[in-house]
Amino acid sequence: MKVLGIETSCDETGIALYDSEKGLLADALYSQVDLHAQYGGVVPELASRDHVRKILPLVKQVMAVADVNADCINGVAFTAGPGLVGALMVGSCVGRALAYSWRVPAIGVHHMEGHLLAPLLENNPPDFPFVALLVSGGHTQLVKVQGIGQYELLGESLDDAAGEAFDKAAKMLDLDYPGGPQIAALAEKGVAGRFKFPRPMVDRPGLDFSFSGLKTYMLNSVKAHAKDLLPDEQTMADLAYAFQESVVNTLAIKCRRALEQAQLKRLVIAGGVSANLALRETLETMVKKQGAELYYARLQFCTDNGAMIAYAGCQRLLAGESMGYEIQVKPRWPLDELPAI
Ligand code: KG4
Ligand code: ZN
Repeated sequence: MKVLGIETSCDETGIALYDSEKGLLADALYSQVDLHAQYGGVVPELASRDHVRKILPLVKQVMAVADVNADCINGVAFTAGPGLVGALMVGSCVGRALAYSWRVPAIGVHHMEGHLLAPLLENNPPDFPFVALLVSGGHTQLVKVQGIGQYELLGESLDDAAGEAFDKAAKMLDLDYPGGPQIAALAEKGVAGRFKFPRPMVDRPGLDFSFSGLKTYMLNSVKAHAKDLLPDEQTMADLAYAFQESVVNTLAIKCRRALEQAQLKRLVIAGGVSANLALRETLETMVKKQGAELYYARLQFCTDNGAMIAYAGCQRLLAGESMGYEIQVKPRWPLDELPAI
C-alpha cells in the first residue's frame, strides 16, 4: 500500500510517500522558521497561509521524486491534531480533497502518534512493548506502548513541555527561535560545573515533570550575571550548558524510573527534543547500565515531518480504518483516546 502523508500541524509543511512493502519512497519538508523568527515564535495565521502556498508544490515534488502517479496511491494521511487549528485545517482540507479526487481512503493522524512511531522507520526498529519518551515543543510524556494505539500514559509535564522550556530559555539569552538547537549549540562552548541548576520533581515519586521552575531559575541566573542586558559570552554558554544538563538529567532520571516501573528494557525517544545529542548520549549511558536499548529516529525525523504521518496513517489504513467526508480537526486530542489496531 502506498500512502501520501501530509504534516501541517505547526510551522513545517512535511510531505512524504510511504510504501508498506518498499518503505519510504520520498519525502520533502519546507520549514517556516525564517518567516516566524522575526516574531520570536510561531504566528498561527502566517503559518496557515504559508502551508497553503507550499503544500501542493511539495506534493507534486514528492510524487515526481518517487516517480509515482496519482493512480498508484492507495490512501492519504494527514495530521488532524493536536496543533494549530488553522494550520491543521490546511493539511486536512487538501488531504481529504486529494483522497476524494483519487477515490482512495483518507485518515486523520494524531501528530504525537506520528512522532512516537517515527523510530519504526529506521533499520533496527524497536519491537513492542516499549516505553516512549515524547519530547516536543508542546508535549513531554512518558508512555507505555504495547502496540499501535495501545498507549498508557505513565507521566507528563504539569506545565511547560521540554521543547517549550528550551525555546523560552533561548529567548532569555536573546537566541533565535526555535531555541532548542540554539541552546544545544551554545552549550557546546559551555564549561561543565560552573552552574548547577535544580532537577525539578526528581525527589518526588511518580513520572510527571515540571519545567516552569527551571525557566524561572534560568531567568534569575541570566539577570544575576547580566552586564548591560545580557551576561558575557562565556557565561551565556555556561548557563546554556547548565540548563540543558538539568533538562537532560531530569528526563533521564524519569526514563530510568519508567523502564523499572513498566519492567521493560526498550526505551524509544521521539519528538523535536529527541534530536538533542546530549540527551541521546546521556540516555545511551543510562540504558546500558540498565541492560536496556535506546531507539530514536534519524535527526530529520525527530522534528516535524511528513514521513511519520505517512507511516502512522499507513498502519491504520492497513488495519481497515478510514474517515468519512467531513473535515474535522482536533487541536486538543489526548493520545490515549486513540483506538488500538
Ligand atoms: O516535534 P517538534 O518539531 O514540534 C512539535 O511537535 O512541537 O518539536 C519542536 C521542539 C522545539 O521546542 C525545539 O526547540 C525542540 O523541539 N528542538 C530541540 C532540538 N531540536 C529541536 N530541543 C533541544 N535540542 C535540539 N537539538
Ligand atoms: Zn511535532
